[in-house]
Amino acid sequence: MSKLWGGRFTGKTDPIMERFNNSLDVDRVMWSADIAGSVAYATSLEAAGVLSAAEAGQIREGLGKVREEWASGAFVVKEGDEDIHTANERRLTELIGAVGGKVHTGRSRNDQVVTDLRLHLRSVCAELATELAGLVTLAAKRATAEVDLLMPGYTHLQSAQPVRWSHWMLAHAQAWRRDHGRLVQAAERMNECPLGSGALAGNPFGVERESLASALGFARPTASGDGRGVNASSLANSMDAVSDRDFVVELSGWATLLMAHLSRFAEEQESSRRGSREADIIVFSTQEFGFVKCGDSYSTGSSLMPQKKNPDAAELLRGKAGGGREPGHRAPPAPCRGQANRVLGHHTALLAMIKGLPLTYNKDLQEDKQALGAASTPRSQCTALFDSLDTVQAALKITSGVLATLQPAAARMRGAQQLPLPLLPAVRGARSPLELRTGALNSFMLATDLSEYLVRKGVPFRETHHVAGRAVQPAERSCKGRRVAAVHETQHGAHQVQLAEERSCALTELSVADLQSLHPLFGDDVLAVWDFDASVERRDSIGGVSKRRVLEQADALAAWADAA
Ligand code: ARG
Repeated sequence: MSKLWGGRFTGKTDPIMERFNNSLDVDRVMWSADIAGSVAYATSLEAAGVLSAAEAGQIREGLGKVREEWASGAFVVKEGDEDIHTANERRLTELIGAVGGKVHTGRSRNDQVVTDLRLHLRSVCAELATELAGLVTLAAKRATAEVDLLMPGYTHLQSAQPVRWSHWMLAHAQAWRRDHGRLVQAAERMNECPLGSGALAGNPFGVERESLASALGFARPTASGDGRGVNASSLANSMDAVSDRDFVVELSGWATLLMAHLSRFAEEQESSRRGSREADIIVFSTQEFGFVKCGDSYSTGSSLMPQKKNPDAAELLRGKAGGGREPGHRAPPAPCRGQANRVLGHHTALLAMIKGLPLTYNKDLQEDKQALGAASTPRSQCTALFDSLDTVQAALKITSGVLATLQPAAARMRGAQQLPLPLLPAVRGARSPLELRTGALNSFMLATDLSEYLVRKGVPFRETHHVAGRAVQPAERSCKGRRVAAVHETQHGAHQVQLAEERSCALTELSVADLQSLHPLFGDDVLAVWDFDASVERRDSIGGVSKRRVLEQADALAAWADAA
């Protein structure tokens, strides 16, 4: 089969070179964009008087048939089809004869491939944006419905202060919202048309780049978007147009950051609950935390340990690959457990690929530096990006599924122990000490509130912080079942705190007298501090964890996602 570029060649291509050079396996996904580009280009050649109306009509009709063949799966790839551009043109010429050869007048695969890529990515970005907005909607809905559930908030993964489960969920959703914004901005910058730039030096046939751009739905020809009042078309540069892959790197960088965010979400979940019918999902669903459980659909078992139900979905989100591609994509998902940082790896590879390239087009741009798949499998310039975007697409679906099926274990997050025991003697009588310690919200997380109690009585915060710290310390010691006899110095003199052996160790169980021994301004009303709900309600600043603020946030996120 003769090559479309074979004019000056007499020798045959080495079969290994043939495979090495071929990118059809990867760039065939751009078949629709390639046809759309050719249709628009034929029309602009007609407008320029290069093609007669009849010729342009024949070409458009022929391209329509090629489109149908791809769409129905009837397109037959032939030996010598080295990429999607040569394949489509070869087929067009087979269908309509020599006139098909006119479609490439003044055009190069250099301006063609980068136009196709931008067109193709435009629709991928739109899908990804929709998926991301859907994820935010899901989080907002759940947050509204589950706003009353409290859980421990962490810093350094040490329990810190009580927060709302919804606030935790929305914290992740906020990152997703910003990821959406970055995607939209990157897509806007990408939405410029390189076609008409030729191989590198421009088009000699009077092709109208402005109308070519608008026929293909681009905002303008490359690269004239950010001129700030300068005549846009004077900013365009054909050499830049064919060699620029900024937009590829930008999207890949975007994908890297999104994956980092999804990975942080996944990190907070996992499971291996022995004998459980449900799987929990990495840190929050360990037996030790037990805060969340996730449906079977996002877990797998162990080939050896019968009791296991592993949180693979969350781990794959973190390890980044997650099988990468959705069912129906060109390559089946491979087990990806070891392929951590796949998207980050692609991003690094892309940057390494472009950093030393001289202007303008270089075939390196078709090369993927990542040894993905078999060495003999050709990979295009976009393999890294395509694989990253496939991975992101799958990861977003998985995250939605995981989030939708996530079941918070309310009792584990907030067990009985956090009840204000001195205020609820009946409850105290009804539960064993063991039951009283099953929740993760513990009284020590109210130490800040205890300190703030004294602040409200006029004591300087620096001092109250120390007083509350001393209240924690003896209680902690008594936890270990040791007799505590601690003497603490305060501004007000020496106070001895003694807590009896075997006594319940919760901070909430210190008596008013105990507290008064630490500071004289503690009064009976200090018992009201032992209330997790009141604690979160006091945090009512913008973005705070009070119910009103969290509901307001969920509403705003839902409205944002609707409009996104
Ligand atoms: N398949 C090629 C690519 O993906 C098309 C451009 C080829 N251009 C060239 N001058 N060889 O980059």
